[in-house]
Amino acid sequence: MNPVEKARIRDVTQMHRLINYFADKGDMLARSLSEIYENIRDYFVVRQGERLIACAALRVSWSDLAEIKSLAVAEDSQEQGIGARLVEAPLREAREPGIPTVFCLTYKPGFFEQCGLSQIDKMELPRKVWAECYRCPKFPNCDEVALIYHLETGA
Ligand SMILES: CC(C)(COP(=O)(O)OP(=O)(O)OC[C@H]1O[C@@H](n2cnc3c(N)ncnc32)[C@H](O)[C@@H]1OP(=O)(O)O)[C@@H](O)C(=O)NCCC(=O)NCCS
Repeated sequence: MNPVEKARIRDVTQMHRLINYFADKGDMLARSLSEIYENIRDYFVVRQGERLIACAALRVSWSDLAEIKSLAVAEDSQEQGIGARLVEAPLREAREPGIPTVFCLTYKPGFFEQCGLSQIDKMELPRKVWAECYRCPKFPNCDEVALIYHLETGA
């Protein structure tokens, strides 16, 4: 099984290609190269030899909240449990500094529910988390679903 590891600088161009492939299909928000470089320490990856097959990021939003972002698994590597392992890694990392709650905004709520997150009304999220929404092509008609995971209770 290819391990989930922290991203390295040499992964960035492949992460950029993978994320924007799915962004072009409307599955997720696009990321620029500079954005990925700036936030490289947020990212986890799965590699198969030299090829990057999946990535995800954990971004701390506030004192009690972090977000799982930019989760993408290459089409030929999906449905093998890689996405689920890429959700577990940021959940584990969020525990270390004592962040109690992790959320995501997604068009794939069924997948995140399989990973143990629960749907909430997105208006319950603090206004701070909407900072980058103006860049979304769908803004202001957001149809993403919000899900949340409480690390203390595991639900
Ligand atoms: C969504 C995505 C990350 C799932 O990754 P994956 O590696 O195929 O998922 P896994 O194999 O780990 O699936 C884990 C479980 O979720 C289920 N699942 C996977 N995709 C699902 C979906 N779209 N809806 C509902 N359930 C889903 C699987 O059947 C599996 O269930 P099981 O444990 O009962 O077998 C992947 O399809 C992807 O990268 N899609 C394109 C980008 C995207 O939409 N990213 C999410 C945006 S935030």
